[in-house]
Amino acid sequence: MRVKVKDALCAQSAEEKINVKGWVRTKRQAKGFSFLEINDGSCLKNLQVVVDQGIPGYDLLEKTSTGAAVSVTGDLVSSPGKGQTWEMKAVSLTLLGEADPEKYPLQKKRHSDEFLRTIAHLRPRTNKYGAMNRIRSELSFGVHKYFHDLGFKYIHTPIITGSDCEGAGEMFTVTSLDLEKNSSPDTQNVFENDFFGQKAHLTVSGQLSAENIACAIGDVYTFGPTFRAENSNTPRHAAEFWMIEPEMAFADLNDNMDLAEDITRKMIEHALEHCSDDMELFMKFVDKNLKAKLDSILNQTFQRLPYLEGIEILQKSGRKFEYPVEFGLDLQTEHERYLCEDYFKKPVILFDYPRTIKPFYMRLNDDGKTVAAMDVLVPGIGELVGGSQREERLDILRSRISETGLDEDDYWWYLDLRRFGTVPHAGFGLGFERLLMLVTGVTNIRDVIMFPRTPRTLDF
Ligand code: 4AD
Ligand code: MG
Repeated sequence: MRVKVKDALCAQSAEEKINVKGWVRTKRQAKGFSFLEINDGSCLKNLQVVVDQGIPGYDLLEKTSTGAAVSVTGDLVSSPGKGQTWEMKAVSLTLLGEADPEKYPLQKKRHSDEFLRTIAHLRPRTNKYGAMNRIRSELSFGVHKYFHDLGFKYIHTPIITGSDCEGAGEMFTVTSLDLEKNSSPDTQNVFENDFFGQKAHLTVSGQLSAENIACAIGDVYTFGPTFRAENSNTPRHAAEFWMIEPEMAFADLNDNMDLAEDITRKMIEHALEHCSDDMELFMKFVDKNLKAKLDSILNQTFQRLPYLEGIEILQKSGRKFEYPVEFGLDLQTEHERYLCEDYFKKPVILFDYPRTIKPFYMRLNDDGKTVAAMDVLVPGIGELVGGSQREERLDILRSRISETGLDEDDYWWYLDLRRFGTVPHAGFGLGFERLLMLVTGVTNIRDVIMFPRTPRTLDF
């Protein structure tokens, strides 16, 4: 019977004749026997296998090099070696797939992140990227568990849309037209002949549809892929990323901030509790201060601060920033990081941003100048969460749509929510990759998603 390495390593007692399948991490030859370290990805640790000379398959060891896939049957016995309780004494070995040592690129114990990005298809076989994938999986489950426990409903919103949620025009076009044939630039409304009879895009956010469902069944959330054709080649932006988007009916900006703060903390706790071995790797090899940083987020309440006061702090900081700071300008990562890393030394929730720099759907405040927006800024990353209370008043929403240069006709169904039983509601988007960066201390988004999509790279 096949047993996963994880289960073999935490077995309660010695066992006879179990089967383990996995990839060879190392092979050491001694007199009369060999050691294989086998990893099957079920956990960080390897199972040590002792292969005595003469057992069936022993002669295959010659071709069994690092990276090769093997199936070993043997007895689980207590290990005399340090650092492990159990090892396997093989009774037979099968070589499932060779990995030519001249060509298999993962021979060394450690490789640079840059090199590993060039072999993104193989990097999950390293300790670090195996751990990243397991944490990613566990945290995804944690997100669903978190919302499920709070009574939120998991909803699915369209990936292909006809409207631009953020109004920033950073969308990928979806078409079934053969652009090489139909590329004449003077064809008016070429999309009339397209699949949907109009221009279609990959979604930048599920929010607008989520609002519709929230204003029917209450608290909901989406957790899915979103796409942005913004040409920012930074360590924090990907063209395809996963976003967690809760939306709450009968909720305001404060409820929104409470939820954003709570989920951030709960996700850190979830990773520490359920991925302890994998998290330890990141604490040891990626960021020696990771544990302290995470503890400080867990142990302090987030600083809540109006945008205007944030601007004042930045202006008085005496710091030379690359980008200017004044009311009405969007904050850059350097500003966000100054506020949470240097000034408050903890996560900051900035709220009430100028209306001019935020999307049309955010609720206009009584001052007429700001909207009920909030961003959660965290050390090391900057913006982790962006959200708002939504504009529930029809007339104001319509004028905001036209003010931001959008076409009201594209949003008729969104406006209907304000025509029929409109209610205060609020929600936010939490970038899942940025959450993973926060939790693991990894500083480049390309290393928390296994096949990153960024400008001019689509290799895998
Ligand atoms: O602030 P954003 O643009 O907000 C929205 O899209 C809202 N419609 C969400 C909502 O209210 N339901 O994006 C939300 C979060 C950001 O704070 C960031 O964490 C992440 O999504 N994000 C990105 N992550 C990786 N790469 C990108 N290009 C990202 N753009 C946004
Ligand atoms: Mg934002």
